[in-house]
Amino acid sequence: LNYLVPKDRKTIVDTLVSGLARLEYRGYDSAGMAVDGDDSEEVFIFKQVGKVGALRKFLAERQIDFEKQFVSHCGMAHTRWATHGEPSQNNSHPHRSDAKGEFTVVHNGIITNYKELKTVLEKKGYVFESDTDTECVAKLAKYLYDTQNPNQNLSFTALVKGVIKELEGAFALIFKSTHFPNEMVATRRGSPLLVGVKTEKKLKVDFVDVEFGTDEKVPDGNLLSPTDGLPKLRRSQSRAFLSEDGLPQPIEFYLASDPSAIVEHTKRVLYLEDDDIGHISEGELHIHRLRRDDGISAVRSIQTLEIELAAIMKGSFDHFMQKEIYEQPESVVNTMRGRVNFESHKVTLGGLKAYLATIRRCRRIVFCACGTSYHSCVATRAIFEELTEIPVSVELASDFLDRKTPIFRDDVCVFVSQSGETADTILALRYCLERGALCLGITNTVGSSISRETHCGVHINAGPEIGVASTKAYTSQFIALVMMAIQLSEDRSSMTQRRNDIIDELHKLPDYIKQVLSIDKELQKLAKEVLYKEKSLLIMGRGFQNATCLEGALKIKEVSYMHSEGILAGELKHGPLALIDENMPVILIMTKDSLYPKVQSALQQVTARKGQPIIICNDGDEGISGQYKTIRVPQTVDCLQGLITIIPLQLLSYHLAVLHGVDVDFPRNLAKSVTVE
Ligand code: G6P
Repeated sequence: LNYLVPKDRKTIVDTLVSGLARLEYRGYDSAGMAVDGDDSEEVFIFKQVGKVGALRKFLAERQIDFEKQFVSHCGMAHTRWATHGEPSQNNSHPHRSDAKGEFTVVHNGIITNYKELKTVLEKKGYVFESDTDTECVAKLAKYLYDTQNPNQNLSFTALVKGVIKELEGAFALIFKSTHFPNEMVATRRGSPLLVGVKTEKKLKVDFVDVEFGTDEKVPDGNLLSPTDGLPKLRRSQSRAFLSEDGLPQPIEFYLASDPSAIVEHTKRVLYLEDDDIGHISEGELHIHRLRRDDGISAVRSIQTLEIELAAIMKGSFDHFMQKEIYEQPESVVNTMRGRVNFESHKVTLGGLKAYLATIRRCRRIVFCACGTSYHSCVATRAIFEELTEIPVSVELASDFLDRKTPIFRDDVCVFVSQSGETADTILALRYCLERGALCLGITNTVGSSISRETHCGVHINAGPEIGVASTKAYTSQFIALVMMAIQLSEDRSSMTQRRNDIIDELHKLPDYIKQVLSIDKELQKLAKEVLYKEKSLLIMGRGFQNATCLEGALKIKEVSYMHSEGILAGELKHGPLALIDENMPVILIMTKDSLYPKVQSALQQVTARKGQPIIICNDGDEGISGQYKTIRVPQTVDCLQGLITIIPLQLLSYHLAVLHGVDVDFPRNLAKSVTVE
């Protein structure tokens, strides 16, 4: 926020808290803010574990001077969904460079090289107070300020350029500093960040020039060999905002990860691009590029949002489930970020590094999970066995415990759970720990019981999932397990080509998913015109598609209350065929892989009994007679095809739920996290 009209501290704090409350759906394990103290040398940082309400309450009880007036002020706030370090007061944002808070930072994203940065900074005497990746950003800013700024004339922008040159991974970052009072710098790479602009009068200019022209020398920032080059400053030449009559206007700026936080103040926004560095000071916004000659367009236009506040929490979506389905092109990338190198075809899961040799030596791997998480295990078992040549068994946690399954010291047990809190899965984990097995966790929730109690593991980084029916967590768990199989098999050269093919296709995944999302209207029509009045729906397939059938049927049961069953097509003649007649709705998954001929014979078995299946098949498959309704999806490598075929079933289940008038995000009798046995 930047004000050129006086505001009291209470107004500033309230604005920040209400903005946070609107962003709470993105994460809600802790919240914090930084505002100016009583003099320009001072910053107040407030943090609380829990929802934004806890921070609000805490602030209300604090003895601070809420009456204090600021003519110009920059405040920042953050609501967290843990990725590095459990939810705690120390780990919540803003993070600071030092006890005085010379630099304060809020961050959305994941800094993948933070361990290296932290090690270097620790050697230079910095003492870290949190387990987060973000804290190294604040400390790095101070380090550069102290070591590469002997004449004290380094601008805030140049400093931040120096910082982000060092960062790998994804970030939207906002910086505040006692050295640059009433200035704020915001930058992004990979994570979204927008600037809202509020003025009283109509703006004369509707764009901001990107400033290529400064001669500011960016601090080299190379921590291992710092240069002593002095930055040369030149007066910024880019655009100020002018009103219609050409006079500069009192102006407020809002920075946020998405418009929900700011739309109540302004609908005029500009979206920062990767490696844009936005600098706000004295009522002006200037946008700089990290590198001058990167060929990115020099103009950012200001857009007018057409959304209303009420609709915005879920973006343009009606339900969180729908939003989460649509987030998948992004969430799958977040799962792979910093882990898959698409050029060198290498996968590195930092959390498993130290255990790879032990896992490779084990006598079997046991996957253990419940619900959708169990299906992600079913989906990846075959590729896991193929790549690693280690036998894999897949267990439903409750049944695993009921059977008192024998587990030994040389077993590796993998516990998959979105929440990390499912009681059956936790009990199975403890059972395996007691028997001396190596236990791995695959979870979406940092600091969860499974994350804490396992020896090692992988966070899927899909972002908060709110809809009870799991969607984006499924695709991210699936990818996490495939990444794990690839990494485990990297010592098997006979598998190099197979691994490379999979990695190449992982790269294309977001586009494939977008293509499926683009047929949503057709799926809605199918739900409405063909399936909605039916009592039951069978979903059939085999091989890699078995899991899709099980997961698709679970989605339909969960949210539409329609009976649905996933059937392994190979088992058709051993029972389910008795259900088939001209009235039984069937979806058959018939994608192009080695089992295609066998699925063709299942199709014949169904049509011979007058069944009229809807077929999920690949784009361009001309072998399917025009008499069938088809849902066409892009073709990918066999073991990843399930990531694509599940999307139309998620969408269908969603539409069926809406048509049935179900409370989609909170279906009856179900809970997001089942913490009882
Ligand atoms: C509940 C949820 C499901 C979820 C299952 C396992 O049943 O409704 O969506 O798949 O728990 O949850 P977990 O958090 O362990 O993945």
